[in-house]
Amino acid sequence: MAIYDDSPYRKAAAKLPAHFASVPRKRRALLVAVFLTITIFLLFKLITPSQTLLFFLFSPDIAGPYGERSGAASSNQDFNNDILQFIDPLIGTTNGGHVFPGATLPYGMAKAVADVASPAENAAGFVSDDNPITGFSHMHDSGTGGQPSLGNFPLFVHPGCIDDDYTKCDFSLYDRPLNRVPGSVYASPGYFTVNITNGVRAEMTTTHHAVLYRFSFPGTEKLHFAKGVAPYSPLILIDLVDLMNSRSMGGIQVYPETGRIVGDGRYTPSFGAGHYHAFFCADFKGAKIRKTGTFVSSKATDEKQFLEGVGSGYQIPTGSAGAWIQFERPDSEEMKNSILARVGVSFISVDKACENAEREIEDWDFERVEKDAKEAWREKLDVVRVDASGTSEELQTTFWSGLYRTLLSPQNYTGENPLWNSTEPYFDSFYCIWDSFRAQHPLLTVIDPKAQTEMIRALIDIYRHEGKLPDCRMSFCKGYTQGGSNADVVIADAFVKGLITNIDWKTAYEAVLSDAEIEPENWGLSGRGNLVSWHDRGYIPWNDVDKNGTGPASRSISRGVEYAYNDFCISLLSRGLSESSLLFPSQAEFQEYRPNISTHTSLATDASKYHHRGANWRNYWNPSAKDLFRDRESLSPQAEDTPLEGQNASIPGYILQSPFVGFLQPRTLRGTFRYHPTRTCSPIQNQHSCYYDTSLDVYEGSPWLYSFFAPQSMSTLISLMGGADTFVKRLEYYHESGIAYMGNEQSFLTVFQFHYAGRPGLSSKWLRSYVPRMFNASVNGIPGNDDCAMGAFTTWGMGLGVFPVAGQDVYLIVPPFFHEVKVRAGIDLKSPSGPVSSDSKKAKWAIIRTVNFDVEMQGDGGGGTKPVYIQSAKLNGKRHTKNWITHEFFEKGGLLELVVGPDESKTWGTNPKDLPPSYYEDAKFWEEWERMDREKTERWKAEEDGSEVDEEY
Ligand SMILES: *[C@@H]1O[C@H](CO)[C@@H](O)[C@H](O)[C@H]1NC(C)=O
Ligand SMILES: *[C@@H]1O[C@H](CO)[C@@H](O)[C@H](O)[C@H]1NC(C)=O
Ligand SMILES: *[C@@H]1O[C@H](CO)[C@@H](O)[C@H](O)[C@H]1NC(C)=O
Ligand SMILES: *[C@@H]1O[C@H](CO)[C@@H](O)[C@H](O)[C@H]1NC(C)=O
Ligand SMILES: *[C@@H]1O[C@H](CO)[C@@H](O)[C@H](O)[C@H]1NC(C)=O
Repeated sequence: MAIYDDSPYRKAAAKLPAHFASVPRKRRALLVAVFLTITIFLLFKLITPSQTLLFFLFSPDIAGPYGERSGAASSNQDFNNDILQFIDPLIGTTNGGHVFPGATLPYGMAKAVADVASPAENAAGFVSDDNPITGFSHMHDSGTGGQPSLGNFPLFVHPGCIDDDYTKCDFSLYDRPLNRVPGSVYASPGYFTVNITNGVRAEMTTTHHAVLYRFSFPGTEKLHFAKGVAPYSPLILIDLVDLMNSRSMGGIQVYPETGRIVGDGRYTPSFGAGHYHAFFCADFKGAKIRKTGTFVSSKATDEKQFLEGVGSGYQIPTGSAGAWIQFERPDSEEMKNSILARVGVSFISVDKACENAEREIEDWDFERVEKDAKEAWREKLDVVRVDASGTSEELQTTFWSGLYRTLLSPQNYTGENPLWNSTEPYFDSFYCIWDSFRAQHPLLTVIDPKAQTEMIRALIDIYRHEGKLPDCRMSFCKGYTQGGSNADVVIADAFVKGLITNIDWKTAYEAVLSDAEIEPENWGLSGRGNLVSWHDRGYIPWNDVDKNGTGPASRSISRGVEYAYNDFCISLLSRGLSESSLLFPSQAEFQEYRPNISTHTSLATDASKYHHRGANWRNYWNPSAKDLFRDRESLSPQAEDTPLEGQNASIPGYILQSPFVGFLQPRTLRGTFRYHPTRTCSPIQNQHSCYYDTSLDVYEGSPWLYSFFAPQSMSTLISLMGGADTFVKRLEYYHESGIAYMGNEQSFLTVFQFHYAGRPGLSSKWLRSYVPRMFNASVNGIPGNDDCAMGAFTTWGMGLGVFPVAGQDVYLIVPPFFHEVKVRAGIDLKSPSGPVSSDSKKAKWAIIRTVNFDVEMQGDGGGGTKPVYIQSAKLNGKRHTKNWITHEFFEKGGLLELVVGPDESKTWGTNPKDLPPSYYEDAKFWEEWERMDREKTERWKAEEDGSEVDEEY
């Protein structure tokens, strides 16, 4: 690209600063506070947008509270006619869903949408509310919590400037936002449009690394705004801001002859540490160029055609700085009254951004790009087919839209990784694996094994180059680890399901051992903390002293139960690898294999060691803990000092909330238990007190919730809780009392754990109590941050007839919401040396059929869905009494027939032999465990001085 070579900006871009290397992270809460302050300040300013067309100020609200239209069709019951009409990308764009509703491809890097000035809601750019639009930007994440992500280089469009004076157009983020026209928002896969109140209609569609925008204008000679009259002469600006306003450095240049604008910026990731560098390249088509220039904050000039070194704090308070082009009126025959803007993006360079745009959208054909995007979605979704006769349109839309959302992220950044050169795929926006390991990744294993394989390869390559698997990761940066090292579960899950081809299992195994054995310096960003105690004691003491690394020294219970599950999953992998001749074809190679972890001796000893550590969740189990709330207000001073011997609830100030006994509680260095309120961090008690940087012993959930998390050892848990009946009462109590919070992924499994107590019908009942009440097709139809995972809950529960126990080859059977569902997994286990079949059409269908499917029982989709219970089941024609199946069904294809009825069956799936596996049923194992626990506790008691007695039971 010779044209840029001698530009001053290019020179600046070539020697981009190193000074930004290590800005210490402020605490997230503080950042949010600063962000809110700035945004609230901005909002005050935004109440009176100055360039709103007068007409729109008086236009009536013509569609719904926010004027959004849905992408769903009015009526279509045909078997897979065009599935895209059942996808409404706007679901979950209010009420904390944070869903990205714009134009994109499956796993696409380009994600275009209108950005909205809605603090705390605009994590994905757009929000279905009535706040003004700040611009149109090209990259986003979907469904995330924390701060808003990406949203770099927004475009903004004016149809003309007052008095034809470009300096009178609004440039900065502070001045330019405008309301949307009510009823003008429309979204469908690969397409998004909105009209803003200055008369401009914005449409957008994408390829993988580029966006094509079409801006249309009213076409009238003069536009009448509150501030004056603007002759028709569109001005388009590009701002170097991002959604979070985090830029620390940047540059931009406009080329007056061609109208090309290129630029770059350095930004911070939304829930992680460090910074990333992004680039864009924009071209325009449709009108002659009149003038070009740059702007800083609200001041524009046509004298300067480039800006460089626009860093942090440069334009307080908006961060706005960029370039602009003013056009003659667009009156070409071809596209009357509209201008196309093509924006390529890259994380490598400006040249790469230009190349991406030129390669992917050479033809500037909006309809072609949109058609290709839609085709890509149809093809991706064609692995699932549904006979929806009898199922309401709302439920169909809930199902398909949920499935669609699970394919938005992780994003495929292969070829765009600036951090290292590798022939491996690179995926990013693993956001966070803590959310996605439970339902989303297992879903991808079934419906898109090729992508799941590439994602695992990317995880392994991240380990190779950065030394640890990520938990959270976004924009090439390490994200904050919320609990365990759950990439271990993702890897084990793929392995136990036979997704083994093309994966370097030696390095994969080394990576999970590294999580289990080697504590990183900052375990807040990857790996695990408190590992010395974890190894020696089997739990993280509440008052542990960690000399090996740093991280938020909290969440001792929730990290502990997740570490235990991670270790259990590693034991499955150790055993599987040791038995797998597929992976180590020659015995010699097998003998030689030594992962780069000093504690490793052999796969068999590893299997036993990690199996033992997989039982560590029990170290937090306090058998005498009651469901007590300590009300400090009414606590007598003397009670505060009294050790809570034997859980004496009659001490004034302690309130007994339910009869259930035995909870996970924090443990001290002495081995004793410490009081932790059982319901804190649930919707009914201080829900927002358990985040990454708070001090409690649980993360985003209560001890009530975490006390159910032992998927590896449910039979043990059930007997500790007092047997199946008490367990069932307790789990039902959890769901009815409001302690359960469905807006977070940890709650998914608790809906289905009735299976382990021989009551699979209750799993179906509770699933139907949440779908469609909390998971539905409205704009607020997702109960919490989508995380690209909430849709996996409905895809499994409503469609596939099973729910996965992630990490194990176990799927719990629940009756689907459809008459028949077919899935095509597309992997070929029998040719392990060959590639994963990328041709999913060759795979066989796994068919889930509901017999006695009764339209009545499916409810009306608006609530009141009646219970549906499995009476009997057949797998490939044979009676199937187990309430679970394995991956073989999806892998080989087959037919699962579920006979349903209105009452819970007393026989199907209820016998001990029909329950899903528990891996710790050996009584000797627990006898030995209890003996050692007693011994260790005695020793620790003797070692410590007992200073925390008043906090113990
Ligand atoms: C949006 O703008 C386009 C083009 O100007 C116009 O045809 C359309 O009617 C507008 N839509 C709404 C809902 O105002
Ligand atoms: C990757 O390879 C290219 C071409 O050889 C080189 O310019 C670039 O610096 C390399 N990137 C990294 C991160 O090593
Ligand atoms: C990811 O992107 C690379 C490079 O464009 C491509 O080869 C690969 O097929 C993509 N993977 C998926 C799962 O789409
Ligand atoms: C903790 O640090 C000690 C001393 O450096 C080291 O020997 C040990 O291996 C570390 N343990 C872990 C679990 O990382
Ligand atoms: C083993 O790990 C160390 C430390 O990360 C690294 O320096 C070394 O190169 C690795 N060795 C192998 C064989 O991968």
